[in-house]
Amino acid sequence: MFNPNGNEIITLAGRDYQVQPLNVGKLAATPPALRIIHGARAEVFQLRDTSTNTLLALKVMRPPFRKPALIRNRALLAQLSNVRGFEACQLTYFTPQSHPNDLAHYPDLEYASLMPWIGGMTWSSVLDSRTQFPINDSTSWKLAYDLLVSLTVLERNHTAHCDLGSNNVIVDLQNPQTTLIDFDEVYWPDAPVPAGLPTGTPGYRRGTQNQWKASGDRFATAILVAELLGWRNAQIQNRSSGESFFSEAEYNDLSSARYLELQEFLDQLDSKLGSLFRKAWNAHSTEVCPSIQDWRRALAEAQHWKAIPLDYRDAFQINWSAVKHDLANLSGQPSGPALAIASPPLVNGQAAGPQTQPSPSSAAVVNPDTPHPVASQPTPPTIGCMILFALMVLGLLGWWILFVPH
Ligand SMILES: Nc1ncnc2c1ncn2[C@@H]1O[C@H](COP(=O)(O)OP(=O)(O)O)[C@@H](O)[C@H]1O
Ligand SMILES: [Mg+2]
Repeated sequence: MFNPNGNEIITLAGRDYQVQPLNVGKLAATPPALRIIHGARAEVFQLRDTSTNTLLALKVMRPPFRKPALIRNRALLAQLSNVRGFEACQLTYFTPQSHPNDLAHYPDLEYASLMPWIGGMTWSSVLDSRTQFPINDSTSWKLAYDLLVSLTVLERNHTAHCDLGSNNVIVDLQNPQTTLIDFDEVYWPDAPVPAGLPTGTPGYRRGTQNQWKASGDRFATAILVAELLGWRNAQIQNRSSGESFFSEAEYNDLSSARYLELQEFLDQLDSKLGSLFRKAWNAHSTEVCPSIQDWRRALAEAQHWKAIPLDYRDAFQINWSAVKHDLANLSGQPSGPALAIASPPLVNGQAAGPQTQPSPSSAAVVNPDTPHPVASQPTPPTIGCMILFALMVLGLLGWWILFVPH
């Protein structure tokens, strides 16, 4: 087992790292000797690079999750890692091809990943603490809006995190900002369909429907934004069920008391925000939940901003040809992962893939309010309607020329 002691020096790819004893933004009561964070699929260690002093997270997958398919997203994540809020996407994967010596020494590191350590606290620890980490109105708005700007980056690129929840959002309460982590289940158009389709995070999903789709983050976004906005209120803090505000079972109870309290709070904060939350809570699938952009616009309006402020992140476009090229290379490796490219999944009955993507350099400044070019292109049924309409106009004109006395 990969089971280093606190302060032990380990060597990976020729570099020395010290395993850090942790007290990571958890409650003060956490024993300081903690050095492993237990996730659902992995155990995470904090390492310090002894030559640069930088902190890193080493994510060691539990045996059933050590799968070659984990690296299918690496080219996409490498691009995202340049964007604020996605720093944890800068990953080095330990594969039999890339790190044979390290894996000979530590076989448990197969498909482990090394990434920057994100300072702050998981949003789940804040929720779990109830009133211990109160936030003021300004921090509450900023955290919610910052999260929405990050999620807009994914939405504009038809991509979804698919495991969005309080454990996978790290918040910095001093300098209010959010960072997303844990992109193992990310959906992107043309990605190979995973063997097990992600069904979302307990506490942030309704039932266990497939969430591996472009709209997969919408329900979880509504819950996270409601939590972040509600956290300015001590009564709401006191009502948290634990690491998520709602319990998993509550989503089948459309009139749960906890829901009604948060709903009432949001209605008072701003009626538009309240109605978006109501819509999400009553939605039977993620497709009919409000989009990320709906939330972003509503937050801007609630703060009386004249327009949605542009963020440099709004200009970010994924270079899909680089992502597909890398995937083709992976599939071609003799001992590499079996990564059949699936036909594009359907969203609302239509292929969800990006069709023409501008290169990152041509993206310049993009209004986040402008629909994505793909969405504004005429679809086949629209073209059919236009032809039918033209024929009707011609028919009417002919009838007028022939039969109406001039
Ligand atoms: N880059 C990181 N920086 C700081 N903490 C992290 C990082 N990656 C993971 N963690 C911590 O480890 C926990 C589990 O990691 P995660 O990638 O979410 O694993 P899992 O796939 O098992 O959910 C997270 O909830 C968070 O507390
Ligand atoms: Mg996680």
